[in-house]
Amino acid sequence: MPNVFTGRANFIARLSIVVVILGLTLVGGFAYGYIRSAFYTGVGVEVSQPVPFSHSHHVQGLGIDCRYCHTTAETSAFAGLPTTQTCMNCHSKVWVDAPMLEPVRESWRTQTPLRWERVHNLPDFVYFAHSIHLAKGIGCASCHGRVDEMRLMRKEASLFMQWCLDCHRNPAPHLRPTEALFSMDWQPPDDGGALAGALLDHHQIQQAAITDCSTCYR
Ligand code: HEC
Ligand code: HEC
Ligand code: HEC
Ligand code: HEC
Repeated sequence: MPNVFTGRANFIARLSIVVVILGLTLVGGFAYGYIRSAFYTGVGVEVSQPVPFSHSHHVQGLGIDCRYCHTTAETSAFAGLPTTQTCMNCHSKVWVDAPMLEPVRESWRTQTPLRWERVHNLPDFVYFAHSIHLAKGIGCASCHGRVDEMRLMRKEASLFMQWCLDCHRNPAPHLRPTEALFSMDWQPPDDGGALAGALLDHHQIQQAAITDCSTCYR
Protein backbone atom coordinates (compact mmCIF):
# COMPACT_ATOMS: atom_id res chain seq x y z
CA MET A 1 0.00 0.00 0.00
CA PRO A 2 1.40 3.42 -0.99
CA ASN A 3 2.18 5.93 1.70
CA VAL A 4 -0.91 8.21 1.88
CA PHE A 5 0.76 10.93 3.94
CA THR A 6 3.96 12.31 2.53
CA GLY A 7 6.54 14.10 4.65
CA ARG A 8 5.14 17.29 3.27
CA ALA A 9 1.64 16.50 4.59
CA ASN A 10 3.18 16.00 7.99
CA PHE A 11 4.76 19.42 7.83
CA ILE A 12 1.47 21.03 6.74
CA ALA A 13 -0.37 19.30 9.59
CA ARG A 14 2.11 20.68 12.13
CA LEU A 15 2.01 24.11 10.58
CA SER A 16 -1.77 24.23 10.68
CA ILE A 17 -1.75 23.37 14.39
CA VAL A 18 0.60 26.27 15.03
CA VAL A 19 -1.58 28.60 12.94
CA VAL A 20 -4.74 27.55 14.78
CA ILE A 21 -3.10 28.09 18.20
CA LEU A 22 -1.75 31.49 17.15
CA GLY A 23 -5.14 32.44 15.74
CA LEU A 24 -6.98 31.45 18.92
CA THR A 25 -4.49 33.40 21.03
CA LEU A 26 -5.04 36.48 18.89
CA VAL A 27 -8.83 36.20 19.02
CA GLY A 28 -8.69 35.60 22.79
CA GLY A 29 -6.33 38.52 23.30
CA PHE A 30 -8.54 40.76 21.20
CA ALA A 31 -11.69 39.74 23.09
CA TYR A 32 -9.94 40.31 26.42
CA GLY A 33 -8.78 43.76 25.36
CA TYR A 34 -12.20 44.61 23.94
CA ILE A 35 -14.03 43.68 27.17
CA ARG A 36 -11.72 46.00 29.06
CA SER A 37 -11.88 48.85 26.56
CA ALA A 38 -13.90 51.99 27.21
CA PHE A 39 -15.81 51.26 24.01
CA TYR A 40 -17.31 48.19 25.67
CA THR A 41 -17.49 49.20 29.36
CA GLY A 42 -18.46 52.82 28.73
CA VAL A 43 -16.13 53.92 31.56
CA GLY A 44 -15.24 57.59 31.23
CA VAL A 45 -17.42 58.09 28.15
CA GLU A 46 -19.68 61.14 28.47
CA VAL A 47 -23.29 60.46 27.58
CA SER A 48 -25.16 63.22 25.78
CA GLN A 49 -28.53 64.20 27.19
CA PRO A 50 -31.63 66.11 26.00
CA VAL A 51 -30.35 69.00 28.16
CA PRO A 52 -26.62 69.32 28.81
CA PHE A 53 -27.11 69.18 32.59
CA SER A 54 -23.83 69.80 34.42
CA HIS A 55 -23.21 68.19 37.82
CA SER A 56 -20.07 70.25 38.15
CA HIS A 57 -22.10 73.45 37.82
CA HIS A 58 -24.96 72.45 40.11
CA VAL A 59 -23.05 70.43 42.73
CA GLN A 60 -19.69 72.14 42.98
CA GLY A 61 -20.73 75.58 41.73
CA LEU A 62 -24.07 75.95 43.50
CA GLY A 63 -23.51 73.48 46.35
CA ILE A 64 -26.74 71.53 45.83
CA ASP A 65 -26.86 68.23 47.76
CA CYS A 66 -27.24 64.95 45.81
CA ARG A 67 -30.45 64.20 47.71
CA TYR A 68 -32.17 67.33 46.39
CA CYS A 69 -32.42 65.58 43.02
CA HIS A 70 -31.81 61.91 43.79
CA THR A 71 -34.38 61.78 46.54
CA THR A 72 -34.74 58.04 47.07
CA ALA A 73 -31.08 56.93 47.22
CA GLU A 74 -31.20 56.34 50.98
CA THR A 75 -34.60 54.72 51.10
CA SER A 76 -34.98 52.55 48.01
CA ALA A 77 -33.16 50.41 45.46
CA PHE A 78 -33.18 53.33 43.01
CA ALA A 79 -31.48 56.64 43.54
CA GLY A 80 -34.16 58.22 41.36
CA LEU A 81 -33.91 61.00 38.79
CA PRO A 82 -35.29 64.52 39.34
CA THR A 83 -38.65 65.52 37.90
CA THR A 84 -39.03 68.59 35.71
CA GLN A 85 -40.63 70.27 38.73
CA THR A 86 -37.28 70.02 40.55
CA CYS A 87 -35.51 71.89 37.75
CA MET A 88 -38.30 74.43 37.52
CA ASN A 89 -37.99 75.26 41.24
CA CYS A 90 -35.03 77.34 40.10
CA HIS A 91 -35.35 77.62 36.35
CA SER A 92 -38.71 79.35 36.51
CA LYS A 93 -36.65 82.16 38.07
CA VAL A 94 -33.07 81.83 36.78
CA TRP A 95 -32.03 81.42 33.16
CA VAL A 96 -35.71 81.54 32.21
CA ASP A 97 -35.04 82.34 28.56
CA ALA A 98 -31.90 80.28 27.96
CA PRO A 99 -32.33 78.31 24.69
CA MET A 100 -30.39 75.45 26.31
CA LEU A 101 -33.22 75.01 28.80
CA GLU A 102 -36.02 74.96 26.23
CA PRO A 103 -36.48 71.14 26.51
CA VAL A 104 -37.06 71.62 30.27
CA ARG A 105 -39.67 74.31 29.67
CA GLU A 106 -41.30 72.26 26.94
CA SER A 107 -41.49 69.27 29.28
CA TRP A 108 -43.09 71.55 31.87
CA ARG A 109 -45.62 73.01 29.42
CA THR A 110 -46.63 69.65 27.96
CA GLN A 111 -46.37 67.71 31.23
CA THR A 112 -44.20 65.04 29.59
CA PRO A 113 -41.13 63.90 31.53
CA LEU A 114 -37.64 64.57 30.18
CA ARG A 115 -36.09 61.40 28.83
CA TRP A 116 -32.63 61.19 30.36
CA GLU A 117 -30.26 58.69 28.75
CA ARG A 118 -29.15 56.05 31.25
CA VAL A 119 -25.45 56.15 32.06
CA HIS A 120 -25.41 53.18 34.45
CA ASN A 121 -27.48 50.16 33.59
CA LEU A 122 -27.00 46.75 35.17
CA PRO A 123 -28.46 43.67 33.51
CA ASP A 124 -31.92 42.88 34.90
CA PHE A 125 -30.81 39.65 36.58
CA VAL A 126 -28.44 41.48 38.93
CA TYR A 127 -29.92 42.60 42.21
CA PHE A 128 -28.58 45.96 43.30
CA ALA A 129 -29.97 48.40 45.85
CA HIS A 130 -28.74 51.86 46.80
CA SER A 131 -30.34 51.94 50.24
CA ILE A 132 -28.36 49.05 51.75
CA HIS A 133 -25.04 50.46 50.53
CA LEU A 134 -25.74 53.87 52.05
CA ALA A 135 -27.01 52.33 55.28
CA LYS A 136 -23.77 50.32 55.49
CA GLY A 137 -21.47 53.29 54.99
CA ILE A 138 -20.64 53.34 51.25
CA GLY A 139 -20.76 56.88 49.85
CA CYS A 140 -21.80 58.02 46.36
CA ALA A 141 -18.22 58.91 45.39
CA SER A 142 -16.95 55.37 46.10
CA CYS A 143 -19.00 54.07 43.18
CA HIS A 144 -19.64 57.14 41.02
CA GLY A 145 -16.37 59.04 41.47
CA ARG A 146 -16.00 62.82 41.57
CA VAL A 147 -19.44 63.64 40.21
CA ASP A 148 -18.89 67.25 41.29
CA GLU A 149 -16.18 67.53 38.63
CA MET A 150 -18.22 66.06 35.77
CA ARG A 151 -19.80 68.41 33.27
CA LEU A 152 -21.61 65.62 31.48
CA MET A 153 -22.19 62.41 33.44
CA ARG A 154 -19.90 59.46 32.84
CA LYS A 155 -19.30 56.08 34.46
CA GLU A 156 -16.42 55.85 36.89
CA ALA A 157 -16.51 52.05 37.24
CA SER A 158 -17.18 49.14 34.86
CA LEU A 159 -19.97 47.75 37.12
CA PHE A 160 -18.63 44.30 36.22
CA MET A 161 -19.21 41.54 38.76
CA GLN A 162 -15.49 41.66 39.54
CA TRP A 163 -15.90 45.27 40.62
CA CYS A 164 -18.75 44.42 43.00
CA LEU A 165 -16.79 41.49 44.41
CA ASP A 166 -13.55 43.43 44.90
CA CYS A 167 -15.37 45.61 47.39
CA HIS A 168 -17.52 42.86 48.89
CA ARG A 169 -14.35 40.87 49.67
CA ASN A 170 -12.77 43.78 51.48
CA PRO A 171 -15.21 46.60 52.18
CA ALA A 172 -13.31 48.15 55.11
CA PRO A 173 -11.20 50.68 53.13
CA HIS A 174 -14.37 52.01 51.44
CA LEU A 175 -16.42 52.60 54.59
CA ARG A 176 -17.32 56.12 55.66
CA PRO A 177 -18.91 57.69 58.68
CA THR A 178 -22.56 58.54 57.96
CA GLU A 179 -21.90 62.30 57.77
CA ALA A 180 -19.44 61.76 54.88
CA LEU A 181 -21.71 59.68 52.61
CA PHE A 182 -22.52 62.55 50.25
CA SER A 183 -19.16 64.28 50.43
CA MET A 184 -17.18 64.29 47.21
CA ASP A 185 -13.73 64.91 48.67
CA TRP A 186 -13.73 62.93 51.93
CA GLN A 187 -10.59 60.82 52.41
CA PRO A 188 -10.06 58.15 55.07
CA PRO A 189 -7.68 59.39 57.78
CA ASP A 190 -4.12 58.06 57.85
CA ASP A 191 -4.61 56.09 61.08
CA GLY A 192 -3.45 52.61 60.07
CA GLY A 193 -7.04 51.44 59.49
CA ALA A 194 -8.33 52.28 62.97
CA LEU A 195 -11.40 54.15 61.69
CA ALA A 196 -12.06 51.46 59.03
CA GLY A 197 -12.04 48.79 61.75
CA ALA A 198 -14.37 50.80 63.94
CA LEU A 199 -16.72 51.35 60.99
CA LEU A 200 -16.88 47.62 60.24
CA ASP A 201 -18.29 47.19 63.74
CA HIS A 202 -20.41 50.31 63.63
CA HIS A 203 -22.14 49.34 60.37
CA GLN A 204 -22.25 45.67 61.44
CA ILE A 205 -20.78 44.43 58.16
CA GLN A 206 -21.28 40.69 57.55
CA GLN A 207 -18.30 40.17 55.25
CA ALA A 208 -18.79 36.44 54.73
CA ALA A 209 -22.39 36.88 53.63
CA ILE A 210 -21.82 39.41 50.82
CA THR A 211 -19.52 37.22 48.73
CA ASP A 212 -22.26 34.59 48.48
CA CYS A 213 -23.81 34.35 44.96
CA SER A 214 -27.34 34.60 46.34
CA THR A 215 -26.55 38.17 47.47
CA CYS A 216 -26.67 39.61 43.95
CA TYR A 217 -28.82 37.01 42.15
CA ARG A 218 -32.23 36.40 43.63
C1 HEC B 1 -29.91 69.71 40.49
C2 HEC B 1 -30.15 68.29 40.36
C3 HEC B 1 -29.05 67.28 40.61
C4 HEC B 1 -28.16 67.21 41.67
C5 HEC B 1 -27.99 68.18 42.83
C6 HEC B 1 -27.40 66.00 41.48
N1 HEC B 1 -27.81 65.35 40.33
FE1 HEC B 1 -27.14 63.57 39.65
N2 HEC B 1 -28.37 63.75 38.01
C7 HEC B 1 -29.23 64.78 37.77
C8 HEC B 1 -29.84 64.61 36.46
C9 HEC B 1 -30.83 65.56 35.79
C10 HEC B 1 -29.30 63.42 35.93
C11 HEC B 1 -29.61 62.80 34.56
C12 HEC B 1 -28.76 63.41 33.48
C13 HEC B 1 -27.33 62.94 33.53
O1 HEC B 1 -27.09 61.72 33.56
O2 HEC B 1 -26.43 63.82 33.59
C14 HEC B 1 -28.38 62.90 36.93
C15 HEC B 1 -27.66 61.72 36.78
C16 HEC B 1 -26.83 61.19 37.76
C17 HEC B 1 -26.16 59.92 37.67
C18 HEC B 1 -26.21 58.97 36.48
C19 HEC B 1 -27.56 58.30 36.34
C20 HEC B 1 -27.56 57.23 35.27
O3 HEC B 1 -28.18 57.46 34.23
O4 HEC B 1 -26.93 56.21 35.46
C21 HEC B 1 -25.44 59.74 38.81
C22 HEC B 1 -24.56 58.57 39.18
C23 HEC B 1 -25.64 60.93 39.62
N3 HEC B 1 -26.50 61.78 38.96
C24 HEC B 1 -25.05 61.12 40.84
C25 HEC B 1 -25.16 62.32 41.58
C26 HEC B 1 -24.43 62.57 42.81
C27 HEC B 1 -23.46 61.62 43.46
C28 HEC B 1 -24.80 63.82 43.23
C29 HEC B 1 -24.29 64.59 44.44
C30 HEC B 1 -22.84 64.76 44.48
C31 HEC B 1 -25.76 64.34 42.27
N4 HEC B 1 -25.94 63.40 41.27
C32 HEC B 1 -26.40 65.56 42.35
C33 HEC B 1 -29.52 65.82 38.62
C34 HEC B 1 -28.82 66.10 39.78
C1 HEC C 1 -31.21 75.20 43.19
C2 HEC C 1 -31.44 75.82 41.92
C3 HEC C 1 -31.30 75.00 40.64
C4 HEC C 1 -31.86 73.79 40.33
C5 HEC C 1 -32.73 72.91 41.19
C6 HEC C 1 -31.49 73.49 38.96
N1 HEC C 1 -30.70 74.49 38.47
FE1 HEC C 1 -29.85 74.53 36.62
N2 HEC C 1 -28.89 76.28 37.11
C7 HEC C 1 -29.07 76.98 38.28
C8 HEC C 1 -28.25 78.18 38.25
C9 HEC C 1 -28.17 79.24 39.33
C10 HEC C 1 -27.57 78.15 37.01
C11 HEC C 1 -26.48 79.05 36.54
C12 HEC C 1 -26.82 80.35 35.96
C13 HEC C 1 -25.54 81.09 35.84
O1 HEC C 1 -24.58 80.58 35.24
O2 HEC C 1 -25.50 82.17 36.37
C14 HEC C 1 -28.02 76.95 36.32
C15 HEC C 1 -27.61 76.59 35.04
C16 HEC C 1 -28.14 75.57 34.31
C17 HEC C 1 -27.81 75.26 32.93
C18 HEC C 1 -26.87 76.10 32.10
C19 HEC C 1 -25.60 75.43 31.71
C20 HEC C 1 -24.64 75.05 32.79
O3 HEC C 1 -23.49 75.45 32.74
O4 HEC C 1 -25.01 74.32 33.71
C21 HEC C 1 -28.53 74.14 32.57
C22 HEC C 1 -28.52 73.44 31.23
C23 HEC C 1 -29.31 73.75 33.73
N3 HEC C 1 -29.05 74.63 34.77
C24 HEC C 1 -30.17 72.66 33.76
C25 HEC C 1 -30.86 72.25 34.89
C26 HEC C 1 -31.70 71.06 34.94
C27 HEC C 1 -31.98 70.14 33.78
C28 HEC C 1 -32.18 70.98 36.21
C29 HEC C 1 -33.07 69.90 36.78
C30 HEC C 1 -32.54 68.54 36.75
C31 HEC C 1 -31.63 72.11 36.95
N4 HEC C 1 -30.84 72.84 36.12
C32 HEC C 1 -31.89 72.35 38.28
C33 HEC C 1 -29.87 76.62 39.34
C34 HEC C 1 -30.57 75.44 39.45
C1 HEC D 1 -22.16 50.52 45.92
C2 HEC D 1 -22.09 51.37 44.77
C3 HEC D 1 -22.99 52.58 44.63
C4 HEC D 1 -23.19 53.60 45.53
C5 HEC D 1 -22.63 53.74 46.93
C6 HEC D 1 -24.07 54.55 44.88
N1 HEC D 1 -24.40 54.10 43.64
FE1 HEC D 1 -25.63 54.99 42.32
N2 HEC D 1 -25.56 53.37 41.09
C7 HEC D 1 -24.77 52.27 41.32
C8 HEC D 1 -25.08 51.24 40.32
C9 HEC D 1 -24.44 49.85 40.22
C10 HEC D 1 -26.10 51.79 39.49
C11 HEC D 1 -26.81 51.11 38.33
C12 HEC D 1 -28.07 50.48 38.86
C13 HEC D 1 -28.88 49.73 37.83
O1 HEC D 1 -28.58 49.78 36.64
O2 HEC D 1 -29.86 49.07 38.23
C14 HEC D 1 -26.36 53.14 40.01
C15 HEC D 1 -27.30 54.02 39.47
C16 HEC D 1 -27.49 55.32 39.91
C17 HEC D 1 -28.41 56.28 39.32
C18 HEC D 1 -29.33 56.01 38.15
C19 HEC D 1 -30.75 55.76 38.64
C20 HEC D 1 -30.88 54.48 39.42
O3 HEC D 1 -31.17 54.56 40.62
O4 HEC D 1 -30.64 53.40 38.86
C21 HEC D 1 -28.31 57.44 40.04
C22 HEC D 1 -29.09 58.73 39.83
C23 HEC D 1 -27.34 57.20 41.10
N3 HEC D 1 -26.87 55.91 40.99
C24 HEC D 1 -26.99 58.14 42.07
C25 HEC D 1 -26.32 57.82 43.24
C26 HEC D 1 -26.20 58.72 44.37
C27 HEC D 1 -26.75 60.13 44.44
C28 HEC D 1 -25.50 58.05 45.34
C29 HEC D 1 -25.18 58.51 46.75
C30 HEC D 1 -26.33 58.93 47.51
C31 HEC D 1 -25.18 56.73 44.80
N4 HEC D 1 -25.71 56.63 43.53
C32 HEC D 1 -24.48 55.74 45.46
C33 HEC D 1 -23.83 52.11 42.31
C34 HEC D 1 -23.76 52.90 43.44
C1 HEC E 1 -17.42 50.12 47.40
C2 HEC E 1 -17.97 48.90 47.98
C3 HEC E 1 -19.09 48.15 47.31
C4 HEC E 1 -19.33 48.00 45.97
C5 HEC E 1 -18.54 48.56 44.79
C6 HEC E 1 -20.50 47.18 45.85
N1 HEC E 1 -20.97 46.84 47.09
FE1 HEC E 1 -22.63 45.73 47.50
N2 HEC E 1 -22.31 45.96 49.50
C7 HEC E 1 -21.25 46.62 50.09
C8 HEC E 1 -21.40 46.60 51.52
C9 HEC E 1 -20.44 47.21 52.53
C10 HEC E 1 -22.60 45.90 51.80
C11 HEC E 1 -23.24 45.62 53.18
C12 HEC E 1 -22.76 44.36 53.77
C13 HEC E 1 -23.56 43.98 54.99
O1 HEC E 1 -24.77 44.07 54.96
O2 HEC E 1 -22.95 43.59 55.99
C14 HEC E 1 -23.15 45.53 50.50
C15 HEC E 1 -24.34 44.81 50.35
C16 HEC E 1 -24.86 44.43 49.14
C17 HEC E 1 -26.11 43.72 48.99
C18 HEC E 1 -27.07 43.36 50.10
C19 HEC E 1 -26.72 42.13 50.82
C20 HEC E 1 -27.78 41.75 51.81
O3 HEC E 1 -27.43 41.04 52.74
O4 HEC E 1 -28.94 42.17 51.66
C21 HEC E 1 -26.28 43.49 47.65
C22 HEC E 1 -27.44 42.78 46.99
C23 HEC E 1 -25.14 44.07 46.96
N3 HEC E 1 -24.31 44.63 47.89
C24 HEC E 1 -24.96 44.03 45.61
C25 HEC E 1 -23.93 44.70 44.94
C26 HEC E 1 -23.74 44.69 43.49
C27 HEC E 1 -24.63 43.92 42.51
C28 HEC E 1 -22.65 45.47 43.24
C29 HEC E 1 -22.02 45.79 41.90
C30 HEC E 1 -22.92 46.27 40.85
C31 HEC E 1 -22.15 45.98 44.51
N4 HEC E 1 -22.96 45.47 45.51
C32 HEC E 1 -21.07 46.80 44.65
C33 HEC E 1 -20.22 47.24 49.41
C34 HEC E 1 -20.11 47.39 48.01
